[in-house]
Amino acid sequence: MSSIAIDGPAGAGKSSIAKALSKRLGYIYIDTGAMYRAVALFFVENNVSDGTDSRIESLLEKLEISIKYEDGAQKVILNGEDVTGKLRLEEIGKLASKFSAIGSVREKLVALQRKLAQKENVVMDGRDIGTVVLPNADLKIYLSASSKVRAKRRYLELLEKGYTDLDINEIEDEIIKRDEADMNREISPLKQADDAYYLDSSDMTLEEVVSKILSMVKEER
Ligand code: DC
Repeated sequence: MSSIAIDGPAGAGKSSIAKALSKRLGYIYIDTGAMYRAVALFFVENNVSDGTDSRIESLLEKLEISIKYEDGAQKVILNGEDVTGKLRLEEIGKLASKFSAIGSVREKLVALQRKLAQKENVVMDGRDIGTVVLPNADLKIYLSASSKVRAKRRYLELLEKGYTDLDINEIEDEIIKRDEADMNREISPLKQADDAYYLDSSDMTLEEVVSKILSMVKEER
């Protein structure tokens, strides 16, 4: 099986690029951030406020996450319910970041992610794909962009989804805080794998980034 790992901070364009790449290559796209967001939703629904809650292990036993595809788009199923539409708010991103620092949460999701990559050719994006989940990926990309550009992309994404009352500066602050937490946590922090290519997408269009990565895929073959 073939795999492409894309890691990087929030709003770097990972999911748009991974989606476009998977379409061009005929691979499956796996958005691992959506899985952490679904866990956050589940914990919030069960009134878990932080990682010290003694119910976390028993709740994780009751948690079933799976993914399915509808017209090529990934849907996240949380205990039988399609929760995809509830996952994109920055508030959920923040909670996903917080709960993703818990070792047992990561163990559960990493196992699921590896299983998916064993069955299919995948483009997988997240924070620890090249370093932990798929250390033998055929191609690893670390995708970044300035925090201003990343905040603008998140802002436009939310606007398009119909959210109003958005403050771009607030979004930028939240993004910076979230990156700091993801880069400084103890378990599987966000970092560039030694063998990953660094790409700064601040001044590149989506198509330029996709073409660049496709040319790297050709070189690797
Ligand atoms: O990519 P995203 O914004 O949907 O991710 C939400 C949070 O989930 C992110 O801030 C950290 C966590 N995450 C992670 O720890 N490991 C991953 N592979 C993907 C996401």
